[in-house]
Amino acid sequence: MAADVTDPETPPTEQDAARLSDDPADSTTVYELVGGTDAFVELVDRFYDAVETDEVLRPLYPEDLEPGKHHLAMFFVQYWGGPRVYEAERGHPMLRRRHAPFEVTHGGALRWAHHMAAAIRSMAFASAAEFALLDYVARFTPSMINTFDDPPTL
Ligand code: HEM
Repeated sequence: MAADVTDPETPPTEQDAARLSDDPADSTTVYELVGGTDAFVELVDRFYDAVETDEVLRPLYPEDLEPGKHHLAMFFVQYWGGPRVYEAERGHPMLRRRHAPFEVTHGGALRWAHHMAAAIRSMAFASAAEFALLDYVARFTPSMINTFDDPPTL
């Protein structure tokens, strides 16, 4: 398996982990494997369909969902080895800082991850790409939590 990825914003290409194969001659990226930009646009569309009807997440998002949809799609494109459109349009991702204005709780993050995982699975990507995307969601969604609800009581 490729080198470990520990940073949610630095493209794996720069963490020496974008390759899906251990074979140094095979430099296929997730971006290529899913079929490029259109696939991420479609993935984010499907994710947002779920956000739109989620009673916890929807209030966090602005009325007009279109700009955010585009930014998230371009972020994934860049992260997974495609063109750096996100950086050109938005600068450094600074993901935690960009999420600071929103109350991201454990419950909200769980819903976010659930919807994103469902959208990923619905795309029927090649299994290596699906695995990489699901792994990313599981690994990094919790790092966006910035609001701590009361701990559960026994
Ligand atoms: C690994 C997990 C996550 C990633 C990679 C991610 C990524 C992003 C990106 C790239 C943006 C657009 C930033 C920009 O304006 O340039 C964004 C916006 C946003 N995210 Fe996340 N996010 C994650 C988790 C979450 C979670 C858990 C929540 C809430 C529970 C959340 C709520 C939002 C909201 C409300 C916006 C603003 C959308 C808008 O301005 O239209 N995100 N996120």
